[in-house]
Amino acid sequence: MQYTWNDIEQHIAACTRCPLSQTRCRPVMGRGNYQADLMLIAEAPGGQEDQQGIPFVGKSGELLDSLLRDCGLDRKDIYITNILKCHPPGNRDPKEAEKEACFPYLKYETFLLKPRIIVCLGRIAAQRIISPDFKITREHGVWTYRKNCALTATYHPSAILRDPSKYEIAKKDFLEIAKKRAQSC
Ligand code: URA
Repeated sequence: MQYTWNDIEQHIAACTRCPLSQTRCRPVMGRGNYQADLMLIAEAPGGQEDQQGIPFVGKSGELLDSLLRDCGLDRKDIYITNILKCHPPGNRDPKEAEKEACFPYLKYETFLLKPRIIVCLGRIAAQRIISPDFKITREHGVWTYRKNCALTATYHPSAILRDPSKYEIAKKDFLEIAKKRAQSC
């Protein structure tokens, strides 16, 4: 049987696959354009996302929007999701068991979207999606190719909020991403 977006949303809404289901306020499924060729994958919902059930609505969302805008990209043309669909208390790093429990949802999202470009935001996503020993500082902006998909990673918006000097580095990465997207259209 082939799942639909609606099926995935319903499964996530009812999910009890890991203990985060007991502490979350609302699960946060990916959001955006189901026809997008560009998928952004981050780590896990923050506190505001947990309240609203929407990815990147807090301060890091504002920063992400400005980064996208500066590079001629727009959230409405992109699909944005997270490795975890539930907020880890205190914004701690996701546990291995939580990432494993949640991974099928990301697989279904990717299967339905069939993005041509995947961008991992931060170490947690890059290490889960690109390579377990991925180092953002050294390897951000580097492209990897898998089947019909180009993958890369850049700094997580929260890391840029902590160290604004990373903004220009991430902007350069996103300008390359926008270029790649234009080439492969
Ligand atoms: N940080 C993330 O990794 N994801 C969100 O959705 C919000 C903040």
